Amino acid sequence: LSLSSPPSLVGSIDQGTSSSRFLLVTASGSLLSTAQVEFHQCYPTSSPHLSPHESCAGWHEHDPFDIWDSVCQCISRTVEELDKRGLHLCEEQYGSWIKAVGITNQRETTLAWNVRTGKVYYNAIVWDDTRTASVAETIIRQNADLTCGVEAKMNDVLRAETGLPVASYFAGTKVRWLIDHISELQADLTSTTERENVRFGTVDVWLLYMLTGFKRSISESEDGVRLGYDGGVFKTDVSNASRWLFMNLERLEWDAGLVNKVVGGSACWNHCDNEDARSFPVATALPKIVPSSDCTIGTVHGIPCPTTDGSYRLALKNVPITAILGDQQAALFGQTCFLPGEAKCTYGTGLFLMMNTGTDMIPSTHGLLTTVAYQLGQRVASEDHDPSRPIYALEGSVAFSGSTIQWLRDRLEIISSPSETESLAMSVPSSQGMYLVPAFSGLFAPHWRPDARGCLVGLTATHSKAHIVRSALESSAYQAREVFDSMVRDSNVELKEMRVDGGATANKFLMQFQSDILNVPVVRPEHLETTGWGAALAAGLAVGVWNDLDGVRKMWAVNTRWNPNMDDEEREKSWKGWNKAVQRSLNWME
Ligand code: G3P
Repeated sequence: LSLSSPPSLVGSIDQGTSSSRFLLVTASGSLLSTAQVEFHQCYPTSSPHLSPHESCAGWHEHDPFDIWDSVCQCISRTVEELDKRGLHLCEEQYGSWIKAVGITNQRETTLAWNVRTGKVYYNAIVWDDTRTASVAETIIRQNADLTCGVEAKMNDVLRAETGLPVASYFAGTKVRWLIDHISELQADLTSTTERENVRFGTVDVWLLYMLTGFKRSISESEDGVRLGYDGGVFKTDVSNASRWLFMNLERLEWDAGLVNKVVGGSACWNHCDNEDARSFPVATALPKIVPSSDCTIGTVHGIPCPTTDGSYRLALKNVPITAILGDQQAALFGQTCFLPGEAKCTYGTGLFLMMNTGTDMIPSTHGLLTTVAYQLGQRVASEDHDPSRPIYALEGSVAFSGSTIQWLRDRLEIISSPSETESLAMSVPSSQGMYLVPAFSGLFAPHWRPDARGCLVGLTATHSKAHIVRSALESSAYQAREVFDSMVRDSNVELKEMRVDGGATANKFLMQFQSDILNVPVVRPEHLETTGWGAALAAGLAVGVWNDLDGVRKMWAVNTRWNPNMDDEEREKSWKGWNKAVQRSLNWME
């Protein structure tokens, strides 16, 4: 990067389940800087919101201010690092090089706050938190007559309108839990004066609101409680909105009827006279849905970055926010899967396989989700791209992938770092008939069984720690195959290769085993920060840093390709073994 001629840079905030990142991408697509900050995970063990006989097993929360602080710290670190390189981002001259910023986020994680007081009602309930499994059951029961008696697919009651099965995973079930359990929220929703100040949001909505809002004075805070900013923009993009169970997938609008089915109330668009807490006004409580890449989403007010003399300077001041994408959709975009039939698999906390299906909404009959991949705004319109039409995707979401390895480290304590797993797995020729099914809080796609539980089967006295580690890595590959097979059946597209990204793609054992079990090549791109890179691309497209998808595609390049290297008999034998192990996991009580 030459500091003499003003380059164009695009920023990307990538807010994930266990850490936040900030990336600066140059117009040639390379990374100028990256910063990453982990933040605290809350796993409550008791709660005043439960009766004594209920437990908090499966709960997972984030403090919304920890999320915000981690994002600010990433940006501060970037400022410090670039200062050392002579690029002073907080000075107007250099700051103006940043043309746009995009947001990508862990999806479905849900919180609520009051815009008048700035108070957050409760921690954000994380996507993999299973406390709302009973909420999902209630929704299914209350809407069961819509299934026309198809008993086996009870969780499909809202699929035709939303593309989703009813499960604890989705934001709407978390909204219902918050309304049912948080008395301050109930009080505000039943107050005619306060009701319209209540906001619900996923993490993108919270970050956008904070980035575009104004800090309140300390005197506004009571008892040192941290307050959300004032006057921020309240929007979400279509990809995030498609994960609530509240949005009509075709019209791309909130649907008060769906809200009622999920929340169990009588929501209305504007002024509800009804004194029921579940009758929140959709128009003010839910964010405005906008395209994923658009030049008018909002403008950053300024991120305070501390200086050595204890004062603050502002970074990203007045930079437009021009993209919002759920993290898996951003990874699809970053993998430049712009054509129907192109697919990627991201290995993060969970594992997410997604395939672009173009402007077709393909309904899944094999346990996948139909979701919005992205919608590009007016600027990227072209002959073959109508900005009013979203691009859809089929997705298979698996809850435990990287988190299985964390479990080996933090609970079993048989490794001290994920980086050890590759050599341990390779130190034994096979898992010797051992399978680990990490259904620690049920199984997501394609099973959608909250009652499934983890199991380790096939144990013999000759098994060692290395076999357990190997089976843990293999479990990610097998789960990806389950979803891959469903995707082929749902779409009738024969997937010829799988693009991969996420931390675990550094694990050569896993990548080779993945290719062996799928029996297709697995391809890792040059840009390993695919999610953040994808959000930067979407943001840059909205302001003309890049002109079209073809230009963007040229910046994507293959780094490594793993080709299948397992004979058919061995593959089939291993696959059969896995399926038997999954049956144990599904029927562990029988
Ligand atoms: O749907 C949940 C997903 O968005 C979380 O992604 O990368 O934070 O595990 P990740």
